[in-house]
Amino acid sequence: MSSSLFTPIQLGALRLSNRIVVSPMCQYSAEQGSASAWHAVHLGQMAQSGAGLLLLEATAVEDIGRITPGCLGLYSDANESALARVLDIARKAGTLPMGVQLSHAGRKASSARPWDGGALLDAAHGGWTPVAPSALAHADGEAAPAELDAAGLARIREAFVRAAQRAVRLGLQAIELHVAHGYLLHQFLSPLANARSDAYGGSAQARMRYPLEVYDAVRQAVPDAVAVGVRVSATDWVPGGLEIGQTVEFAHELARRGCAWIDVSSGGVSPRQQIPVGPGYQVHLAQAVREATGLPTMAVGLITEPRQAEEIVREGRADMVALARAMLWDPRWPWHAAAALGASLEVPPQYWRSEPREARGVFAHARVGQR
Ligand SMILES: Cc1cc2nc3c(=O)[nH]c(=O)nc-3n(C[C@H](O)[C@H](O)[C@H](O)COP(=O)(O)O)c2cc1C
Repeated sequence: MSSSLFTPIQLGALRLSNRIVVSPMCQYSAEQGSASAWHAVHLGQMAQSGAGLLLLEATAVEDIGRITPGCLGLYSDANESALARVLDIARKAGTLPMGVQLSHAGRKASSARPWDGGALLDAAHGGWTPVAPSALAHADGEAAPAELDAAGLARIREAFVRAAQRAVRLGLQAIELHVAHGYLLHQFLSPLANARSDAYGGSAQARMRYPLEVYDAVRQAVPDAVAVGVRVSATDWVPGGLEIGQTVEFAHELARRGCAWIDVSSGGVSPRQQIPVGPGYQVHLAQAVREATGLPTMAVGLITEPRQAEEIVREGRADMVALARAMLWDPRWPWHAAAALGASLEVPPQYWRSEPREARGVFAHARVGQR
């Protein structure tokens, strides 16, 4: 039986050769937002993975939108040229399409790297004052962010546009807007972070306004050939927070605007969240969005086994699966999934000779001549 996971899919103008997406993963290894040698190794490795799409980590659209001082950015000429060098290397390693996740961390900005504890940093420790929809701290005891005024909203919307234009110049074929995990655009959607009394707060409709304005501005600024999708946190997992019904409404608005995909994650806006973590724990949320809107949908979260991924796609619970930790653990996960599912995929010719006897045929074009 042919594999659903290894069936191509079209996202707007972009064709993926299979349904496996390398989920965005912060590396906290940039210098003033500029990609480093680490990124060349990391992205080069992921480019060899055989996945259908590689999404670069959350990439800040302005410096105070970085989660940590080590986060990647696309807000300066220096950032753009550093990423150009890294992408050039990654493209020599693999031929898969690449996209970037554009982000602003809002009130979760100015934090220490996870391996340095992740706490908010004050100015004395290299931090800055974060901005947010409302002056509400993420966690009890933390300093409150500054509330964005109209000029701030316009500045950040324009920063998304400029970063998207930089992404286009870099030849990236997809842009994912980060509206998840408690960062700025999710903060607007969530009643737990948005207490505004202007046109951007209050009803669910009003809370969607700013993320939709950013989506519209980005979509308008980039050519049709570039696919623009969105990652959402479908639920805050906190009573009184964002829940799946509101997310479906938001997804309907995105579908009306021709959004190329929706990537359905959850949580991140409140330390009070109670997440029932387990294999495929967010797949039902992706399924709800997909069934309601018909948008091409990515499921993510503890999808680790080839047969599990295959069933999610075959049963129509999602159109694609995004994998994060499993890809770090096993950067050849798609090769091994293809072998397990009797499918084939393209791999770099330098590695063709690795094809094991029992998996013969898994490399689509392997023809090894030897003297
Ligand atoms: C090291 C690491 C960095 C991450 N960085 C991002 C990020 O930049 N943007 C994002 O949306 N999610 C990020 N995530 C979340 C993953 O994309 C993914 O949604 C989550 O890990 C669940 O999928 P998994 O079980 O396959 O790891 C990160 C996860 C990890 C492990």
